[in-house]
Amino acid sequence: MSVADTIKNRVSTAKFTAEWVNPEKIIELLETAVYAPNHKMRQPWRFIILEGLGKEKFVHQYLLQIKETERDEHKKLVMKVMSAPAVVAFIMKKNPVYAEEIEDIQACAALIQNFLLLLEDEKMGSFWKTPKYIETDKFKDVLGIRFDELVLGLVMVGYPQVKVEPKKRESAKLLTTIYS
Ligand SMILES: Cc1cc2nc3c(=O)[nH]c(=O)nc-3n(C[C@H](O)[C@H](O)[C@H](O)COP(=O)(O)O)c2cc1C
Repeated sequence: MSVADTIKNRVSTAKFTAEWVNPEKIIELLETAVYAPNHKMRQPWRFIILEGLGKEKFVHQYLLQIKETERDEHKKLVMKVMSAPAVVAFIMKKNPVYAEEIEDIQACAALIQNFLLLLEDEKMGSFWKTPKYIETDKFKDVLGIRFDELVLGLVMVGYPQVKVEPKKRESAKLLTTIYS
């Protein structure tokens, strides 16, 4: 498939099959995704893969830290990790220099898009999510994420149950000014 086709065919996958995703496969794709552009080669990323019993362990450990009266509400949110065979958390080292941190976030976003396109190329599905709880101390504590790190997002990974048509985009031509 051409790069253009891969970009255009990628969609967010809402429903995954139960088929297991080998974490080694995810690592193999990440090994390519890290070729994303990044300023001064800071490579400000790392990854945590939740899969199999790890997802249940995560939900259990996270909910243990929540007050009993608020547990049901939180449970609904975190149980979403169970909707995909694997979930990848993209972690970025915070950068004390504001302009550099913006660059690092952009580099990580490029890496995440690389990953989504590689999954598409493998006929696998993905869903990039940024639920509010990923920035909480409780979430970070359970997964061993340090205070000087940001969680940029979770990507659900698996095999799509159905083929979904891409959502139509506004034409780039209408959004472009040629300054000459
Ligand atoms: C940075 C980022 C964060 C996102 N967070 C969420 C999210 O928390 N929940 C969600 O349903 N979709 C989330 N999405 C997915 C978008 O809703 C989705 O990409 C958009 O609707 C376009 O659909 P498509 O991915 O099928 O092309 C996120 C996408 C990006 C790029």
